Amino acid sequence: MEEKLKNLEEEFNAEYQRVVTFKEVECLKVKYLGRKSQLNRLFTQLPTLAGEERGMWGRRLNSLKVKITSLLEEKLKRIDHKEQRVDLTFPSTPLQRGRCHILSTVNEKICSIFENLGFVVIEGKEVEDEWHNFAALNIPLEHPSRDVFDTFYLDLETHNKGKNRTRHLLRSHTSPSQIRVMRQRRPPLAVISPGRVYRPDEVDASHSFMFHQIEGFAVGEDINFSHLKGVLLYFARSFFSPDVHLRFRPHFFPFTEPSAEVDISCIICRGHSRKKSDNKLKVSGQQQRKCSVCKGKGWLEILGCGMIHPKVLAMCGIDFSKYRGFAFGMGVDRIAMLKYGIDDIRLFYENDTRFLEQF
Ligand code: DAH
Repeated sequence: MEEKLKNLEEEFNAEYQRVVTFKEVECLKVKYLGRKSQLNRLFTQLPTLAGEERGMWGRRLNSLKVKITSLLEEKLKRIDHKEQRVDLTFPSTPLQRGRCHILSTVNEKICSIFENLGFVVIEGKEVEDEWHNFAALNIPLEHPSRDVFDTFYLDLETHNKGKNRTRHLLRSHTSPSQIRVMRQRRPPLAVISPGRVYRPDEVDASHSFMFHQIEGFAVGEDINFSHLKGVLLYFARSFFSPDVHLRFRPHFFPFTEPSAEVDISCIICRGHSRKKSDNKLKVSGQQQRKCSVCKGKGWLEILGCGMIHPKVLAMCGIDFSKYRGFAFGMGVDRIAMLKYGIDDIRLFYENDTRFLEQF
């Protein structure tokens, strides 16, 4: 027993000097203190010894066990903390890569199409004053079209105190960007201006109190309506599909004259469902259903546009007898919904990654 104990201790001391890593110390612990260790085997022999001897060897074995344990613990403490924890071979958790929000992607795509035509991107102000948001765009205070635009005012007190003070609000459209640019720069101009806008709308599948618009306009000596048509056709064919058609419907906007709303031929049924005969077509014996996107109309509204009203040019100090301009404004959310067949605008804002990851 004496001999075995001595050898064991010497062997441990020799090995102990050599170990340097956390793993090695762990192996040593198993070898000298584990269930199959020599020390443990010696412990199991104790009951075979006579009373007094058993006590004496018991104490010696125990003190060797305590010694080995404390030496190993001491060594572990000295080993670099990092080395104990970092296992470089351990498989990592997959990285969650971020991506552009679908609205940002669509916004960028639209802007880059107009940039190809020579338009420059200029961001307007999200907080506007009443003059830029309304008056300069030929929307007088009492004009009914102002109702749908009257929205988040920021300084009510100023308004109550003095009639002449101008109030500030979260802009209800991107059209005020036209005013800001036209007052700062001289024609020729070709500008595209994206950004957030705010409306006093109840939130539902097709309305949001905040959404995105892109304003575009060009001013020059011989700008006319056909330029507007050409630019919009180029945009629609680049963004939606090369075989898309445009329809201009007369409309009213205070800041353009003449004004129009523009539709594209439905990108799902390609305008077929507007042809009456097609509605009667039977598909495998059943009546063909109306296109769910255009509701059988064959057209989808995408934007408002027109020739910039002479009054608006005048407000910006541009000689309307010399210069003409066209302008248009489109909703980015709506365009994204049409392009990707999304039927609820709220999906853009709920931050549900299951939806966002699809794009
Ligand atoms: N500002 C209009 C709106 O928010 C959109 C618009 C229509 C902009 C016609 C234009 C335009 O520049 O010419 O409803």
